[in-house]
Formats: sequence, structure tokens, C-alpha cells
Amino acid sequence: MQVWFNPSLVIDQHVRSIAAELEDFGPEFDPVVRPADPKFGDFQVNGVLGHAKRQKANPRELGQKLIDALLASGVFDPEMVELSLAGPGFINFKLSSAFLWQWLQAYSTPDDYQSGARELKHGRKVVIDYPSANTAKQAHIGHLRPMVIGEAIARLLDFCGADTIRDNHIGDWGTNFGTLIMKIKRDNIDLDTLEGESALATLDQLYKDGSALEKEQPELRDVSRDELVKLQNGDPDNTALWQQIVDISMAAFDKLFEQMGVHVDMALGESFYRDKVERIYEELTDAGLAEESEGALVVWHDEVKKFARDNERPYPFNIRKKDGASNYATTDLATILYRVEEFKADEVIYLTDARQQDHFQQLFLTTEKWFKAKGYPLPEMSHVWWGTILGEDKKPFKTKSGESIKLQALLDEARERAYSVVTEKNADLSEDERRDIADAVGIGALKYADLCSNRTQDYVFDWNRMLSFEGNTAPYLLYAVARINSIFRKGGASPEDSFAEASPLETEPEHALARKLMGFVNALELTLNDLRPHFLCTYLYELASAYSSFNNADRVLVDEPEIKARRLLLCARTRTVLKTGLELLGIRTLEKM
Ligand code: ARG
Repeated sequence: MQVWFNPSLVIDQHVRSIAAELEDFGPEFDPVVRPADPKFGDFQVNGVLGHAKRQKANPRELGQKLIDALLASGVFDPEMVELSLAGPGFINFKLSSAFLWQWLQAYSTPDDYQSGARELKHGRKVVIDYPSANTAKQAHIGHLRPMVIGEAIARLLDFCGADTIRDNHIGDWGTNFGTLIMKIKRDNIDLDTLEGESALATLDQLYKDGSALEKEQPELRDVSRDELVKLQNGDPDNTALWQQIVDISMAAFDKLFEQMGVHVDMALGESFYRDKVERIYEELTDAGLAEESEGALVVWHDEVKKFARDNERPYPFNIRKKDGASNYATTDLATILYRVEEFKADEVIYLTDARQQDHFQQLFLTTEKWFKAKGYPLPEMSHVWWGTILGEDKKPFKTKSGESIKLQALLDEARERAYSVVTEKNADLSEDERRDIADAVGIGALKYADLCSNRTQDYVFDWNRMLSFEGNTAPYLLYAVARINSIFRKGGASPEDSFAEASPLETEPEHALARKLMGFVNALELTLNDLRPHFLCTYLYELASAYSSFNNADRVLVDEPEIKARRLLLCARTRTVLKTGLELLGIRTLEKM
């Protein structure tokens, strides 16, 4: 029997196809494969009980019939996998030690680990919309999550075989440009003289000052509005100013992307769609979806209470403002059409915080109806949203004076704090080495803390916890990798060795670790199904813990060559999976630390 990379998938397929041929089951039988209680096996097939109820049959009898048929099919070699009946018709599959051992030998390189994962999203064209910040504003802590979660999801999709397009849908066409241009002209500011890092900070300040000025002198609002209209109508001076502002913003973001390891393919922002909105008004009106309401063009979704027209506080999807201007919704409608027509997207994933849930719900509902009316292929659409980063006081995390924390300041502090920790542990390393380790540990800790909790929940920002070497943290995982590296250095071996003289698994911790390694692809699957990276984090933490138990119980560098080789093989596989998993989360691993 050949060892399958992804046993749960193979079990699912075989159980389905064999059951389909059985009189008592048939093609309508719909089993679910789950991880089993480790006492009984590795995987459990559920579904016989429900099926038996519908058939008014005895579940245990049906379960036994299915087991007999599975065994008779010859697919499940009893030396490799043991089948047993439990409870009211559950079927447990326990992979034998021989199976685990062959599995470990068959799958060794990162490429082997990927080959099974590639089937998950094979060839699917996926547009990922992130981090999609607004221009002319400095990045703050609120921009951490779209960068970190977006990059992790993009990497996972790439790894699992998707054909991804990472599109940074920047907000570069907002009403703020009116105020900003008004203020720039009033102060006679030459944007060319603004330099480097402070340029965006200056723009940020100019906008704030401009808004304050508008409050003092309301007549200035008309000036700003005129500047905005001029910009929207293509006035060359305002367009040139706008372009300079966008360039300054993009340069600042690029600097952050580089430090954060974010790689986007393109930035087709809101402005890109400005000449593509007329078609939206026409098509949605023609399809009978959009209608005028108090001068604006809106879409109602009567089937959803809060978006229905007879709601006490009417809340339609507003796609054209009273003054005739397009808005966030219009550009998003134009954007999804473009992604389907130009990129042939099968799937589009949007990343923003929780506050935009209504927007995306309305966008998706509108798109479904509109595409159906037009016969356009409908992509799968998801909104990946998240909770707030809180301070110790459980309120949104801010500076002491109540301002939002700049993202650059956060990255710098992460490195500095990590540097102190690293210096304490490794005073003998050179300054350069410690700085490099601190960069990986600091930025990695920041990212991991953002990824490891369920994204839809708020989390409390805690430097000490995220930089701790204990618990579900980046330093703990990075340290596990470094510890494995040091075993190889000490043993004069390499993780790429073939470990030919290794003898089969023996101890309980070896088996437990092998089983955990086999679960990698299931963790990826779980993570992708829900687009929740914390599943992968939990898996990596459990793997590192299984490794640590193994390492504490079973000495690796023993005298017996076949035991040493077997244990080194386990170390090598653990290292590969930890490194691959951390890289998918955007975390750089270290040789030493
Ligand atoms: N620029 C928006 C913001 O900062 C996020 C854009 C998300 N993407 C989208 N296609 N709407 O809130």
C-alpha cells in the first residue's frame, strides 16, 4: 500500500466511493472525516448514525457492513491502517507505526509538503484585496492587521496552489483631497521640497490643519469642494498635486511593506476606477436594482431587514451621491467587475476591520443580483474582518496622550524590546548578530501576536507576552527551530541527510511527533476554509510542543547510529514544517538565536 500524504482526504474519497456501491448506503451517503480521539485512532468517519436513522436501520450493523466492504476493497492494508467500530456506528482509522514511518520517509522536502497542499486551491484565480489603506495619512496601528493577516492569507493561498493577485486597493480618491489641496495652495507649499520620511507626516498635518481651518472659517469648505471638483474634472494643476501626494504616500507604504515582508502585485486604487463608474449606474439601473432616492442612486435589499426600504431607519446601498459624485460603493462595484472581466477571478477576498461588514454584505448582495441579471460569472466573495487591538485598559490601544500609535514607531519598539531580550540571553553574540535576531524576533512577535488569536475577536496588546519564550508565541517557535539547528551542528549532521540507517519509530513521543507532522496539511486546509490564520498558529504551537516533549524524553544524539538517525530524521521533518509554516505566516526563521 502506498502511504498517502493527506490520509483524511483519501479516507473520505474511498469511503464515499465504496459506500456508493453498497445497497445499504448508496451515493447519497455523506460521511464526514474528523480527527479522532487519539485513544482510538487518527481519523474518525461520522455520518453512519444519521444515515441509519433515516434508513431506520441499526447504526452499528450498518457501520460494520461498511467496515467489511472497506476491508474487502483491499484499499486499506491491515498492516498499515486498522479500522474499528465505535459507539453508534463511528468508524475509527488508526494508522500503524509502519504507516507513520513510511510517511516520514516519503515526504521530506518543503516541496513534498507542498505537493499535497497544492491540490487544495489548484489553479484557482484569487484576488486578495489588501492592505488597501488610504493615501495622505500616516500608517498607524490600525494598519498592522491588514498587512499581517493579508500577507499570511496570500502566502497560504499561493502555497496551496492558487493563482493569486495581490491588489492593494488604495483609497486615493477621497473627499479629503479637496481640503488638502486647499491648504497646500493657501500655504504655498512646494511638495517637491518635502523629504523622505517626514513628507507623509507633513501631509497628515496639513490635512488636520486644513480641517481645523474649515471649522473656523466655514466658507473655506466651498473652496475645498471646488478644488475637489476641479480634481475630479481633470484640472492639470490639481491632478499634478494629487499625483505628488499619492507618490509620497506610496513611497512611505513601500518602506513599511519592506520591513513587514509584504509583497503586493499592484495597487489599482479607487482613482483607477473613476472612468468606469458610468457603466455601473447604467447596468444597475437597467437591471432594476438601483433607483433614485432623495437625489441619490441607491440599491435596496428588502430581504435583509437592516437594508430594507421599509426599515424605520432606511439604510440602502448608496452608489451615487446626491451631488452626482461616485463613492466608495461605486468604485467597489466597478472594481469587482474589473476583477472578473480582466483577471477572470474565481474568488475575491477583501480584508478590512469589522466596521465594514455592512458595506461588504451590501456589496456582495448587489453583485450577486447584478451579475445574475447580466449573466456574468459570479466569483466567490469573502470579507475577512477582524477585531480591535486593545490596550491593557481594554480600550483601543493608543499612546498615553490618546493618539493613535504610528506603525513605524511600533516596529521600532518591537525591535528595541527584542534587542534587550536577545542581549540578555546571548551577550556573547556580536552586535550585528543580535540586531538581526532582534529584527526577526521583534517583527515576528508582533505579527504572530496578531495572527494567533481568532481574528474576529479583539485582543489585548502585550509586549511581554508576545516576546516571551514560553507559550504560543513567535519566540517560542523560532527558538524551537534554532534548537533543532543546533542539534544538527552538534551532531555534525545536516537536515538534508537521507538518514538511510534510521530504524523505525519506537517510543511514544516519537509516534506523537510523527502524527503531529502528518497533520500539517489538515491545518492548512482548516486555515484556508475559514481564512483564519490562528488555526495554523495553533498547529505550529502544538507541533513545537510535541517536539519539545520528544526532545525532553528521547535524547537525539545517542551512540546507536540507527536510533540517532531516526531521531535526527524527526528533527529534520519538524524543522521543515515549522520553517514552512512560519514562513507562510510571514515570519522569518533564524539559524541561531
Ligand atoms: N481604503 C479602505 C479603508 O482604509 C479599505 C479598502 C478595502 N478594499 C475595498 N475594495 N473596499 O478603509
